[in-house]
Amino acid sequence: MKTRAFFLSVFSLLLLLAAAPAGAADKCIECHTTVSPGQVQDWQASMHADNDVTCSICHGTKHTTAEDYRKAELPSERVCASCHEEQFNSFQKGKHNFGWTSLNAIPATHMAPDELIEGGRGCGGCHNMGIKTEQQKTAQREKGYRYQTNSCDECHTRHTFSKKEASNPRACQQCHMGYDHPQWEMWSSSKHGERYFAKLAGDLPKDAVAPTCQTCHLPDGTHENSTAWGFLGVRLPLPADKQQAADRVTILKALGVLDPETGKPTAILDAVKAVKMAKLDQASWQKERDKMLKTCTQCHAEDYARKQLEMGDAILAKADRLMAEAIETVAALYKDGIIRKPAGYPHNYPFLLTFMHTNGAAWDQDLDKLSYIDQLLVQMYMKHRMRAYQAFFHVNPDYAYWYGWNMMTEDLGEIKALAKTMRAEQKK
Ligand code: HEC
Ligand code: HEC
Ligand code: HEC
Ligand code: HEC
Ligand code: HEC
Ligand code: HEC
Ligand code: HEC
Ligand code: HEC
Repeated sequence: MKTRAFFLSVFSLLLLLAAAPAGAADKCIECHTTVSPGQVQDWQASMHADNDVTCSICHGTKHTTAEDYRKAELPSERVCASCHEEQFNSFQKGKHNFGWTSLNAIPATHMAPDELIEGGRGCGGCHNMGIKTEQQKTAQREKGYRYQTNSCDECHTRHTFSKKEASNPRACQQCHMGYDHPQWEMWSSSKHGERYFAKLAGDLPKDAVAPTCQTCHLPDGTHENSTAWGFLGVRLPLPADKQQAADRVTILKALGVLDPETGKPTAILDAVKAVKMAKLDQASWQKERDKMLKTCTQCHAEDYARKQLEMGDAILAKADRLMAEAIETVAALYKDGIIRKPAGYPHNYPFLLTFMHTNGAAWDQDLDKLSYIDQLLVQMYMKHRMRAYQAFFHVNPDYAYWYGWNMMTEDLGEIKALAKTMRAEQKK
């Protein structure tokens, strides 16, 4: 504590001796030591403090009093880019850069309360990834929200901006957990995670190997992230197997990407393309797969690792058989007029991208339109199909069977039974 105080006073002295902008920075620290001491403390612990990257370099010098604080700039990733161009450029090429845009492409987003989107809890809390366009920022500000302007601090938390923190798998946990993407839970309770925690506790030698999220997804300091299958677990071209191809087509229809009547691509496909939600050719899929396999071979025999990944592909195809059967069961209810097309749906067909269980209704209206069988279908896709295949890739037996595959069979059974009841009631 004493050393830090000493350095701080030497630092302040240097600043006092320096020119005007530095003088402004000193005022920032002086006042903020009282206003928000925790922030100053964090900044002092950062490499930025050691390198004279002061408050005003990121926040500007326009705000100088307790009243005019809204004049302070909230720095976007471009401010970071002025000194960290390499990381900025690779971040820009990766999937994280699409977080905000893909969120806003989903109809459900615009039906949810603003607090959950622009406010940064719910969807927006995790999808605040990606460089925002001026238009996106204006839209946010018009709703009265002005924070969440920076993605870099999602892993390098402000104001310590630490490399070590971002290298800790905990840095991914806040977002990569839960309902539709429990990667944290799967990895941390897998053999890979067990090894990591044993090592951390000193129960394995320091040099023991244990892959983290970063080992497999952000290798060698890259900020460009992308996987072969992606989140939706669909891709083109269609598989050679006829049944598998038909099942994939059924799922693509329920994603709204193919027109259920004609089988032709829709405008939603363009949205999917724009944010690279799925790989649309063999080569771009294979490129990611080959990279991943190479990472596995740091610690495993190539044949062993390849077989593990191929099992993930195979279980996805089998999960799609169950999924397609469920979609077809519900689609028949639409076709026969037993379920009426909800307002937000693109076609008279089930729609999986509702991301919630309210049939496309906004949160404050139309909730009576809720159809329970549609909710079951969304749950089967978003929660259980995700687990069934993601768990293979994250080497987690419990998620693969009990929380994934087994729950899908339960959903399918429930959907079929319910469809029967709905038909019987319609006849009365
Ligand atoms: C005289 C005291 C004082 C000085 C000097 C000062 N600040 Fe502040 N600053 C405040 C207060 C008070 C707030 C508002 C806190 C609150 O919302 O309650 C604030 C808020 C902020 C915010 C948040 C802005 C927002 O939109 O919420 C930033 C960023 C900031 N200050 C940075 C700086 C920087 C950089 C400097 C130096 C150029 C500086 N401050 C100088 C008192 C000061
Ligand atoms: C390397 C760039 C950088 C530096 C240096 C920096 N900040 Fe920030 N600061 C940020 C970012 C990024 C945000 C988040 C902006 C947002 O949410 O839109 C932020 C947010 C803030 C906020 C508003 C959010 C809150 O939690 O209250 C305050 C106040 C603030 N900074 C004060 C300071 C002070 C005081 C210093 C100097 C001790 C400082 N900052 C140095 C990048 C920086
Ligand atoms: C004016 C230049 C400048 C700006 C702007 C800047 N940084 Fe830095 N940053 C530095 C310097 C200098 C270092 C220390 C680099 C070194 O010694 O390797 C550093 C280090 C870092 C580190 C590594 C810390 C560690 O623990 O090794 C991270 C992460 C980082 N900055 C993130 C950011 C982010 C995020 C922003 C924007 C919010 C930002 N920086 C803005 C100059 C800057
Ligand atoms: C806890 C954090 C979190 C919340 C809350 C969240 N998401 Fe996500 N979302 C993610 C993560 C992480 C991914 C990537 C997961 C993966 O690939 O397995 C993702 C993926 C997506 C994708 C696919 C993006 C792509 O290109 O593949 C969409 C669309 C999406 N989310 C929309 C939403 C909507 C709409 C909401 C709110 C109803 C929401 N998310 C809530 C973290 C979250
Ligand atoms: C998804 C998490 C994540 C995000 C978001 C993120 N980083 Fe990083 N960053 C990391 C990881 C992990 C490392 C450590 C890489 C390594 O081990 O070399 C790192 C390292 C760094 C370093 C230190 C480089 C070095 O070797 O000294 C800088 C600087 C940096 N990031 C800047 C940024 C900037 C700027 C942004 C925003 C454009 C950003 N990061 C966004 C995870 C992230
Ligand atoms: C603030 C929330 C957040 C944090 C923290 C975060 N991510 Fe993400 N991640 C997301 C979102 C949101 C997406 C989906 C982006 C999109 O819409 O394309 C995503 C996508 C991904 C993908 C791409 C999956 C695909 O579609 O191919 C990988 C891999 C990934 N993240 C790994 C990581 C790792 C590793 C870390 C920690 C170092 C991390 N993420 C930290 C929110 C986060
Ligand atoms: C041993 C390597 C490895 C580790 C460790 C690992 N992953 Fe993965 N991850 C994979 C593989 C393999 C895939 C599937 C790639 C494909 O589509 O071919 C994947 C896929 C993903 C996806 C896309 C959707 C999915 O789940 O299939 C996200 C997001 C993701 N991982 C995040 C994480 C996060 C966050 C962590 C840490 C909590 C993590 N991963 C740990 C290997 C790993
Ligand atoms: C940094 C080293 C490292 C990397 C990279 C790595 N693993 Fe592992 N993996 C291990 C260790 C160590 C074990 C435990 C000993 C063993 O089973 O070989 C393990 C175990 C496994 C197991 C057996 C799990 C069990 O419950 O018995 C599978 C399957 C596996 N890894 C698959 C993969 C795949 C697939 C990849 C690439 C996506 C990968 N690993 C990447 C180190 C690694």
